[in-house]
Amino acid sequence: MPEVAARSHVELIDRMIAQAVDRSGLGFSQLDAVAATAGPGLIGGVMVGLTAAKAIAIAHGLPLIPVNHLEGHALSARMTESADFPYLLLLISGGHTQLLAVKGVGSYRRLGTTIDDAAGEAFDKSAKLLGLGQPGGPAIEAAARSGRADRYAFPEPLSRREGCDFSLSGLKTAVRLAAESLPTPTQRDIADLAASFQAALIRHLVARTVRAMELEEESFAPPRRLVVAGGVAANAALRGALKAAAEARGWLVLVPPAKYCTDNGAMIAWAGAERAAAKLVPPIDEALAFAPRARWPLAEPIAGKAFGGGRKGPKA
Ligand code: KG4
Ligand code: ZN
Repeated sequence: MPEVAARSHVELIDRMIAQAVDRSGLGFSQLDAVAATAGPGLIGGVMVGLTAAKAIAIAHGLPLIPVNHLEGHALSARMTESADFPYLLLLISGGHTQLLAVKGVGSYRRLGTTIDDAAGEAFDKSAKLLGLGQPGGPAIEAAARSGRADRYAFPEPLSRREGCDFSLSGLKTAVRLAAESLPTPTQRDIADLAASFQAALIRHLVARTVRAMELEEESFAPPRRLVVAGGVAANAALRGALKAAAEARGWLVLVPPAKYCTDNGAMIAWAGAERAAAKLVPPIDEALAFAPRARWPLAEPIAGKAFGGGRKGPKA
């Protein structure tokens, strides 16, 4: 509910910033710069956050760094792992499912994206169908632990399509049809459906990531690194499957701890610090004039037939 979300941001942001400053043991005078998410996302919340950051920057005479939310995810692994550039990035969240080549701060090349639902969206919608709670990712992961993943053989999306694009909406439909074929689904049925769905989704994400590793082998010198980020990267079964597939090809797999995979403020501060270190801080009048963006792609798709362009909506 965008209206409610925006209102909550207004009501909570002052208290939240005061608490964060208090807990850090630092004062505003000790800060080097202020970083804030400037998009993409629900515009009301982004406006509130960016406006608060602008106010702090003006009041304390600090530089302001508008950050792309996706860049926060893209660089999040570098907070805790030795994720040196360049690396291949699988970014999987509630709104995005993308494969990117990350060459450095601000240097991203998109190899593939979803042509319909995002991975987190597929988890959330399937959980809803199965009467499980929200957010759907952790709910499905928990239900799947006691289920049989081989009970339903859900089809693999785009298996004959070239490139690294994803398609996840068919899987949700397959779950719905399977659930509807049962007169009254039992706990066991739900667990089996959750396990079969999760396994099919993991197979698809792994297959497309392996395709990207094969296509990009030459652009990365060893040690080749795969970084996984975004809320869905919190999924332990997926982390395990990606690790096994990548390591079999001699790639290192780096995933931040779950609390830095799902949305968090630390990764935005980190992206700001990385931008500051790379001397990518805009002049203050430019930063203050920066308007919040509902849509803000991190990278344009690369040209060429091998990779689909994906759709042009917010998920792109
Ligand atoms: O990155 P994030 O916190 O927010 C966005 O920027 O979208 O991602 C949220 C998504 C939700 O769809 C949620 O269901 C999913 O991440 N998620 C998971 C798990 N934890 C969160 N999906 C699968 N398994 C999980 N353990
Ligand atoms: Zn996110």
